[in-house]
Amino acid sequence: MQTNEIKVALVTGANTGVGFQIAKALAENGYHVFVGSRDLEKGKDAANQIGGEAHAIQLDITDNNSIRNAVSKIENEFGYLTLLVNNAAISNAGIPGRTMWEILSAQKASVTSIAEMRQVWETNVFGTLAITQALLPLLRNAKQSRIVTVSSSLGSLTLNADPGNAFRNGFDAVYGASKTALNGVFLSLAN
Ligand SMILES: NC(=O)c1ccc[n+]([C@@H]2O[C@H](COP(=O)([O-])OP(=O)(O)OC[C@H]3O[C@@H](n4cnc5c(N)ncnc54)[C@H](OP(=O)(O)O)[C@@H]3O)[C@@H](O)[C@H]2O)c1
Repeated sequence: MQTNEIKVALVTGANTGVGFQIAKALAENGYHVFVGSRDLEKGKDAANQIGGEAHAIQLDITDNNSIRNAVSKIENEFGYLTLLVNNAAISNAGIPGRTMWEILSAQKASVTSIAEMRQVWETNVFGTLAITQALLPLLRNAKQSRIVTVSSSLGSLTLNADPGNAFRNGFDAVYGASKTALNGVFLSLAN
């Protein structure tokens, strides 16, 4: 980016997994990184591990108060956001005691619990759009800005409609289709 502005990023769900690695890579590349975490203490641990300009921020993308507070914090500290990485997601409702096979079987469109489907879509689709909409004014305030949204090959209609794809039975209504919906929503935003 050809601007002298400090590069400011927010990564959602950055206390662990892919989000943690993205936040680390951004901090190593000179970004001030807000490490989004539902649990602030886990976010602080992650930010300490990352070092540099990584700082924890409490953020649950399904909680409007949490979204409001996180946006206010970034607004008060910088007044703009250069990069939003929409990484946070869940793959199931977290019902304990199920094997991966049981989870996948339970998430097929023919049998899935609509409550579980709603819970996953609440985070992966509606929560992701909610945090994005709330941050649009700060993204627009940056000299240059970008939104990166983490999807999955499991969300691809092209791949999962292909009879030659041996893994297409893994395309389920709960997680896979939530990523398809996410792709659609963010194509709409991009357009
Ligand atoms: N891992 C893979 O093989 C794979 C493949 C394709 C795509 N992806 C995508 O990559 C992204 C990261 O996956 P991952 O494997 O790193 O997942 P992960 O280890 O389960 O981490 C998910 C992160 O999202 C957070 N999160 C969940 N619900 C949230 C909410 N309501 N508000 C804010 N944060 C929330 C979690 O917080 P808590 O720690 O509080 O639960 C955690 O920090 C996801 O979008 C996933 O769909 C992953």
